Amino acid sequence: MAILFRQMYGMPSIFATESVNERRETNEHTMENNPTKIWNDRYSKTAYAYGTDPNEFFKAELAKLEPAGALLPAEGEGRNAVHALKEGWNVVAFDQSEAARDKALKLAAEHGQQLEYAVADAQEYLCPVMVDVLAPIYLHPPGASRMEIYIRLSRFVAPGGHLIFEAFSEKNIGMGSGGPQGRSMCFTVEAVQQLFSDFGQLEVWEEKITLNEGLYHNGEAWVIRARGTK
Ligand SMILES: C[S@@+](CC[C@H](N)C(=O)[O-])C[C@H]1O[C@@H](n2cnc3c(N)ncnc32)[C@H](O)[C@@H]1O
Repeated sequence: MAILFRQMYGMPSIFATESVNERRETNEHTMENNPTKIWNDRYSKTAYAYGTDPNEFFKAELAKLEPAGALLPAEGEGRNAVHALKEGWNVVAFDQSEAARDKALKLAAEHGQQLEYAVADAQEYLCPVMVDVLAPIYLHPPGASRMEIYIRLSRFVAPGGHLIFEAFSEKNIGMGSGGPQGRSMCFTVEAVQQLFSDFGQLEVWEEKITLNEGLYHNGEAWVIRARGTK
């Protein structure tokens, strides 16, 4: 399963021996069938899959704001949450993966921080507070559930609150730097504009960046980034 997953999602390119189309079909099939088991497998290793440093865009955008309350959905192993806590933010985080939660709490403890972290699916998660920042970083729900999930998450942002978003573009398919290889799980500028249309001020753009995030996000990558204010 581990090898299969590497080939399908965030695989080092040396493992990618099958065609992009084959990967795309298997990827979408498997991610829709049992994503939690797949993510638990990935996070059950000692190493941090995406490293322990925060995502660069998240860090840069957060630094422009006064610390307040932040919701980090699909937070994985806690790299962004721990950074925000250390910067004085009140953080609520969640992910569908128990293994992710365990690694995130361990990372927080190592940094002397206490993290509020729920195990929940984004389609059902209820945020206990209204927040000032929503920061989905590489949350790629399959196409059918995507709009519902992002609209749901946006509702937890208070008026005047902010969005920080980064995820893989459709143009990243086949780049070998990580991320889903199925078109329905990747983003376009237009799709992200639609997802966050309730943010009055919204900037969305596509950018080619160099990723250096742990084991699974490495090399040149096309991403969609967005910032907004409600
Ligand atoms: C590429 S990882 C990114 C983790 C983290 N945001 C980061 O940047 O390090 C994607 C994460 O999305 C989570 N995820 C995907 N679909 C989800 C859903 N429907 N509900 C909750 N978490 C989800 C996975 O469990 C995984 O931890």
